[in-house]
Amino acid sequence: MTPRRATPDDARMLAVLHASAFPRPWDDGAFEALLITFNVFGLVLDGQGFILCRAVADEAEILTLAVSPQVRRYGAGRALVEAAATLAAARGADSLFLEVASDNDAALGLYAATAFEPTGLRRGYYADGADAVVMRRALNSRV
Ligand SMILES: CC(C)(COP(=O)(O)OP(=O)(O)OC[C@H]1O[C@@H](n2cnc3c(N)ncnc32)[C@H](O)[C@@H]1OP(=O)(O)O)[C@@H](O)C(=O)NCCC(=O)NCCS
Repeated sequence: MTPRRATPDDARMLAVLHASAFPRPWDDGAFEALLITFNVFGLVLDGQGFILCRAVADEAEILTLAVSPQVRRYGAGRALVEAAATLAAARGADSLFLEVASDNDAALGLYAATAFEPTGLRRGYYADGADAVVMRRALNSRV
């Protein structure tokens, strides 16, 4: 299970996958705009899931991650996170950050299983009032 780099031509597929995973979907145009942004990169497992990240100096962040409900718990999420961590490190990042809703058990389980540690809490961060847990993974790119 090896993710490939996403291109602007993948905007439609990413929008469909995103809509399958989140109540407030982002449209094709939003993905196209992100995928042409110089410091944003995406990785995709065709028809299954994708991850979108931004890298700034020595820090990278996960902007969004989605796996289609039909193929969850088969390792796609883990493969996407690991590929993103490898790519972020190759681009010079030494930390990978993310925000996740404190009631999102699947994502919290995935991030715990992929070496992320909580570093903070943003109360009432999401539109539905849920708190966001801020998590960081050290990328060891300089050792
Ligand atoms: C979170 C998400 C990306 C996980 O994708 P996935 O492909 O199912 O994850 P994986 O199969 O790679 O799971 C890897 C590990 O994560 C943990 N995990 C995954 N889903 C879990 C769940 N529902 N409950 C608890 N732990 C879970 C487990 O440790 C799992 O390992 P295991 O299956 O060997 O036990 C997927 O559930 C999803 O798209 N959710 C909706 C969108 C979302 O919440 N995105 C993240 C926003 S921050």
